[in-house]
Parts: sequence; C-alpha cells; structure tokens
Amino acid sequence: MTDSADLTEPSVDFTEISVDDDTIDDVVDVLESGRYVKGPVLERFEDRFAEKTGVDHAVGVSSGTAAILLALQAAGIGPGDDVFVPGHTFFATASPVLSLGANPVFVDVDPDTYTMDPDALADAAETAENPSAVVPVHIYGGMADMNAVNTVADEHDMFVLADSCQAHFASRDGERAGAAGDAGAFSFYPSKNMTVAGDGGMVTTDDAELAERMRKFRNHGRGDDGVHTALGLNYRLDETSAAVGLGQLANVEQWNENRNVAAGRYTERLADVPEVTTPTESENGFHVYHLYVIQVPDRDDLRDHLADNGIDTGIHYDTPLHEHPAIEERVGDVDLPRSERLTDRIVSLPMHPGISESEVEYVARTITEYYR
Ligand SMILES: Cc1ncc(COP(=O)(O)O)c(C=O)c1O
Repeated sequence: MTDSADLTEPSVDFTEISVDDDTIDDVVDVLESGRYVKGPVLERFEDRFAEKTGVDHAVGVSSGTAAILLALQAAGIGPGDDVFVPGHTFFATASPVLSLGANPVFVDVDPDTYTMDPDALADAAETAENPSAVVPVHIYGGMADMNAVNTVADEHDMFVLADSCQAHFASRDGERAGAAGDAGAFSFYPSKNMTVAGDGGMVTTDDAELAERMRKFRNHGRGDDGVHTALGLNYRLDETSAAVGLGQLANVEQWNENRNVAAGRYTERLADVPEVTTPTESENGFHVYHLYVIQVPDRDDLRDHLADNGIDTGIHYDTPLHEHPAIEERVGDVDLPRSERLTDRIVSLPMHPGISESEVEYVARTITEYYR
C-alpha cells in the first residue's frame, strides 16, 4: 500500500476471509435441503456458540436487539421496573427496555474504559424505586467490570444482561463475554466481529428455564403442543444464517487476534502524541477491538484531515444515548457529564481483521503529523 491509498477499502479482499468456500457449500446444502427455519443447523450453531462462550445454553434470534428484548422479557422485566443502562452505547441497549414498558435509568461510564461505572451503578441502584435489571455493555470489544457489576446486582437482586453485541469471545477475569452475568446478548450484524451475512443475534445463559422461555418467545410464544401460552412474536434465526455463523465460529478467534494485534500497533505508534488518548485495556482481559476508538480535543478537524488523506473514520456515538429524542421525551433531563464529554472527543480509526501493519502505520503517521 502506498501512503495515498484509500483506506476506505480494506487492503485484502475481506469477503474471502469472511465467508470461506466451506461455508458457502454449507449454505448451498441448506438451500437444497428445503428446511429454512427451526432446523438442525441452528441447533449446531447454538451448541457451538454456547460451548465457545462457556455457558450451558445459547438461543439464536433475529438480531442483537431481539436478543436484548427477549432476555429481558424472559427475565420478567416490564412496567414499573428500573433497568440500568450505560450512558455511552448504541440506541438498542436501551430501546428494548422502553419497548417492554420498563424505565431505563442511565448510568455514567468510566472515563477510561467507557463501560458502566460500577460506583455510579451502586449510587443509582440505592436511590431507584424498583431496581430490577442492569445491562452493562462490553463497548468496542472490551468487557465491563462484571465482578463489580454483579456485586451491586446481587445486593439489589437484579437480573444482569451483558450487552455483548460488540464483544464476541472477549474475556475478562477468566470469563468470556456472555458468560459473566445472568445472560449475554450478541449481534451478528455484518460489521460485527462475526456475522451471519445479514441480521442475527444470540442470547447466552446458564439458566435452562430462561433459555426455554426465550425459545418460546422467539416463536410466537408457542409450546411443543402447539398451544400459545405467552405473547411471543417471531424472532427466529434462519438456517442459512446459522450455516454462515457456524463457519464464522471457526475463524472469529483468529480475526479477534488480528484486531488485537492491530490495536496494539496503533497504541504503540500513537503513544508519543499527547493530544491522543488511546484505549485502555483491563489487566485481566482480552479486548477484541470491534472498534479502535481514540479521544482527541479537536475531533472534527482531525477527521477532516484524515479524510483529506484518504482515511475513513467514524464516530460511535456522537449523541449521548439519553439525548436522542425518542428517549429524551420519555425519560426527561439526565445529567451524565462523562458520557456527554466523550461524544465530542471520540473518533473510531480504521479497524478490521485484514488491516495491514503498513495501513496502521500510515494512519498513525498521518495523525502524528497533524499534531506536529
Ligand atoms: C452495543 C450494541 N447493542 C445492541 C446492538 C443491536 O444489534 P442489532 O443491530 O443486531 O440489532 C448493537 C449493534 O448494532 C450494538 O452495537
């Protein structure tokens, strides 16, 4: 790659890496079988995902949003329940809470890891009327401090659902994302660390009864006898999607490793630029860098400079969650200074499993020269 290469295009053909020939053969087998939903491929995908995550059960669903919704619904969350969510995350961490008629309570994040601050959670739970559940988010691929979150949750008898949509097979303190807490919710949206070549999601849990309720809710609340005993909808995951997911499972840990190595290079190259705050990794963890996010004082100018040099960047996320109109009009004014400050300072640098050392080098050099 030359210095002026357009980094909006990956330097390797990522389609080749992402969906290999064996996976394509498996998808064709599904197509030829004529069995497109509720079949054996989904069961294999679920079993394999559960095993790799280190839990007893995994339930495949139609999206990460559905995973969050169904897990909370199966835990009995509904009107009158206070559900704690971090102020810095994607909309879909909180929207299912509102869809269930429960009350999202926004908690500020740790300024270094960007994950829910357990002390702020403890304070919020102390003053809440009906603390019922907490949804920490493993944001950008780094896990929240689940030991601390679980301690607060235990004190208030709260259900813990870890939004793991950005953190497939990340780990911290000996547990993988989706294993720490009562349940974990994953997304397979195409930009995630692994995908099903479309929308899809998964809930992981050790709780057999919770898993059974979710299986029911994802299929119209229908029992094996054909009787509908719960108000479920249709949140099923297709067999073709499951076939792609199984293929991805064989590779995702290598891709995570590639992301982690690329992140290490960014952090090393940017260490001497005082204006740049690079990501913090927890000591006992493995960060899977769904995104590599830095903080800078003049974010928009830096982004313009990078764009002028062919480098595509993103912002995840530029509006604090509680300030989106769809949420603000329901919860009113919320004060989360750390989450609010972040939204003005963060920028996501190019990151994917095929990113080369020279690409990382070029991005880091362009940033370094900008501040010189
Ligand atoms: C943190 C987080 N939560 C929830 C979701 C929702 O997942 P999906 O887009 O699969 O519904 C996403 C992904 O978009 C996410 O990044």
